[in-house]
Formats: sequence, C-alpha cells, structure tokens
Amino acid sequence: MTVQIDSQDLLRWNRSVPRYTSYPTAPQFYSLGLSDAVSALKRFDESKRPLSLYLHIPFCRSMCLFCGCSVILNRRPEKQAVYVDLICREIELAAREFSSKRRVTQLHFGGGTPTMLTEEEFDRILTALHVAFSIDAAAEISIEIDPRTVYADGGKKLRYLHRAGFTRVSFGVQDLDPLVQEAVRRRQSEEMTVETFRMAREIGFSGINIDLIYGLPFQTTERFQKTARRIAEMQPDRIAFFSYAKIPWMKEHQKAMPEEAEPSVKEKFQIYVDARKIFLEAGYEAIGMDHFSLSSDSLTKAFHEKTLWRNFQGYSLKLAEDLLGFGVTSIGYMDSAFLQNVKTIDEYRREIEAGRLPILRGFVLGEEDHRRRWVIQRLMCHFELDKREFERLFSLPFDEHFVSLRAQLEALKEEGMLEESSEKLLPTELGCLFIRLIASAFDAYLKPEDHFSKSI
Ligand SMILES: C[S@@+](CC[C@H](N)C(=O)[O-])C[C@H]1O[C@@H](n2cnc3c(N)ncnc32)[C@H](O)[C@@H]1O
Ligand code: SF4
Repeated sequence: MTVQIDSQDLLRWNRSVPRYTSYPTAPQFYSLGLSDAVSALKRFDESKRPLSLYLHIPFCRSMCLFCGCSVILNRRPEKQAVYVDLICREIELAAREFSSKRRVTQLHFGGGTPTMLTEEEFDRILTALHVAFSIDAAAEISIEIDPRTVYADGGKKLRYLHRAGFTRVSFGVQDLDPLVQEAVRRRQSEEMTVETFRMAREIGFSGINIDLIYGLPFQTTERFQKTARRIAEMQPDRIAFFSYAKIPWMKEHQKAMPEEAEPSVKEKFQIYVDARKIFLEAGYEAIGMDHFSLSSDSLTKAFHEKTLWRNFQGYSLKLAEDLLGFGVTSIGYMDSAFLQNVKTIDEYRREIEAGRLPILRGFVLGEEDHRRRWVIQRLMCHFELDKREFERLFSLPFDEHFVSLRAQLEALKEEGMLEESSEKLLPTELGCLFIRLIASAFDAYLKPEDHFSKSI
C-alpha cells in the first residue's frame, strides 16, 4: 500500500461510525407490532423471491473478553436442548405464514458457538428446516466454528457437518500469539488451529474462512506479522480481518482486558497495514472493508462482478436478499422491513409457547431509506457509486437529490478520500480504508452523540 498517513489525520478519522451491516442501523430499530412483522412476511409471500435463513445459537462455554457478539454463557446441556426445541417451533411458526414451501438458497448458523450443538440437535434443526422449507441442492450452507469445540474428537463433528451438507466453515482464531490469547482469555494453541484446519481440508470443505482481529492487547506489528504469515501459509479461502470493536458500554466484559496493553490508534492501524501486505503478497485480494480472499473464491468473483452483498453476517454472496432470522436476537429482512427477535431466552420461550413469532423490534423502510440503503451498500461492497445507475433505479437526479450532502462530500474530497466525476463517486485508496466514513455521509439518522465502535 502506498498510502502514507499522518498521526493527526489518523486521530481525526478515528471516529465512531457504524459498520453498516444494515441501513438503517440496528440502534434505529423501534418496537414493532406483530402485525407489522406479519404483513412483511405476507408481502414476501406474494413474491417469487428465494430466501436466506440465519439461525442464531448463542451459547459459549466461556467468554472471550473481546467478544462483541450476542452470547449466552452456558455449560448446561439441558438448557441448550430446550433452546433447540424452541427454535424448531419458531421455524414451524414462521413457515406457517407462507402459502407454499419457500425456496432457500442460503443458510447460515452463527453465534455464539453453533458447534456447541450435538449431532442429534443439529439433526433436529435440519429436519425442521427441511420440513418447513425447500432447501436448494446447491444452497450455500455455512457455519461459524470455534476450533476448541471440534478439535478433541479428532474431526468427528466436522465430518458430521460435511455429511449434513454444510459447504462453508468459518473458524474463529483471532491471534495465534499465546500472550494475546492469555490477555483476552481465549486459549487456543497453534497446533489446535492448524490441525482443525487440516482436518477440514482433508474432509473436503472447500470454502474455509479464518477470523482474525487486530487491536487486541499486547498485539504489535512484529508479533502480529507472525500470526498473519502463519495463517497466510495455511491458505484458507478467505480471511476475515476484523478491527477490534470496542464497545464496553454494551459489553462489560471488555473492561476486564488490560486497556494499557492495547495498541495505540497508530499502532493498530500499522498492524492492519502490515498484515494486509502479507495477505496480498500471499495471493489474497482485499474484498470489501475487512475481508481477504483467494482469486478462486466465490467472494472474490462476487466482488469483481459487483454482486457482493453485506448483511448482519458481514460480506456474503447475494443469493437472496430476503432473510429470515431464527433464535434470540437474530435479525431478518423481509420485503422492506428489518425484524429483530427478542433478546432473552425467557422472552423467547414465552412468545414461542404462546404460538407467536418472537419479534421485538424492527424498522419498516420508507422510500428515502431504500435509496440511501442502496447507496451505502454500493459503497461498502463495490467501493464505487454509479450516479447514473442510481438515477435509472430511483428516477431522481443524484447530485440534486443529495445536494444537502455537498459540503460533506467536498470535505471527503479535500481529505483525499474521494474522487468525483459527473458519473461516479470513487473512493480513493485511502478512502477504501475508511469506507465507513464515506458511507456515513449518506446516513440520515447518524448523530454526533451516537455510540458505535471507532473507524480504525
Ligand atoms: C460468533 S464468533 C465465531 C464463532 C466462535 N464463537 C468463535 O469464536 O470461534 C464470530 C467472530 O466475530 C469476531 N468478533 C467477536 N467479537 C468481536 C469484536 N469485539 N470486534 C471484532 N470482531 C469480533 C471474531 O473474529 C469471531 O470469530
Ligand atoms: S468470540 Fe466466539 S467463542 Fe468467544 S465469546 Fe464470542 S462467540 Fe463465544
């Protein structure tokens, strides 16, 4: 990378901005009546569109101190078994809203740690899904895996997942360095990571992702380069290289990490820059905001063909835009409406047992929300925006429509983040690194006092 950045600029650009896994973002969601949710499902039912499904399995055996996910600590198998019963009933309840068995092209198990489920529990959920939906033979079926849950059995659960039809697996690694692991309370030996990866390849998984995080305590550029090199040598199909999202006002446990050992903003940015160089030299392409993928990978192809998509699971192929979420806290998108489930297992159980969809809040998009959502998706996924395409789609002149943003766009141009012609908005190399800042110019709801993780 040729971009040289001044420390003062870095501090100025290190602002609190959303990651735009949705627009409008989740803090804008409001409490939504069940009737709004049901009408969104009905509107979808009238379409012929395929469907994507997300299942949230919140359980983890221990808490990694950096974790920003929606997690429930649990070591009691019976609690998990009850949850599996409930999620199977939720699947049934949702499918009842449709007049026919809807076609599913994408299915993702996320968490928490979905591989806390036993094979028998997976079987129950998969059976419920097959009864309720028509899952394409070529559907992408993916799962987030904590290597610590599939290593000790010598690959038995991984083999089960392969047989059960999972096509993509994503392993949480974060950092191989024992000092960092100790500080974040996630002990996962290099041997365990490498062996789990090797088993997955041997079993035949072709789409393997590894998650890494930069910005954790004790990380330095030198130390992290070792992790980056080792992971690049393994050649996973994708590397998700996340900036540590520090949100202690939401995740109390993050306060238990030694803050004084965290890299400074400048160091954190340098860790990213140096690791990025290693990934690019090892044959990866930079995709979207925080992903690297091999040229053979479908995500790379989607990036070049401009079909990359971004939703609550991060970057993905756009096999279906409408998404049904199952389980606590899960978020779906049904024909112009975001729908989020209740957050606690008690509320979840109460709603399901009463035969109601467990929806808590959401957002019904208006026309202007759709336009801005489109613009933000384009910037976050394609790193460019074609004004003429906007005009064709929405029958509005781009420059006039966004005239109130002129000063912000000019400021981004002056900072060297953005180039503009009469046809296009084109983030520069620097702007691509801070794409969230550019996207946020189009966010009609963002207020200076809003609390999100920082852009670096
Ligand atoms: C649900 S977890 C992955 C599955 C499994 N629980 C594990 O940790 O191996 C999804 C990923 O989110 C990322 N993540 C979690 N908390 C984060 C945070 N505060 N900032 C950035 N990334 C985070 C981690 O890279 C993690 O692997
Ligand atoms: S990173 Fe994964 S294993 Fe760790 S607490 Fe979060 S969801 Fe659980």
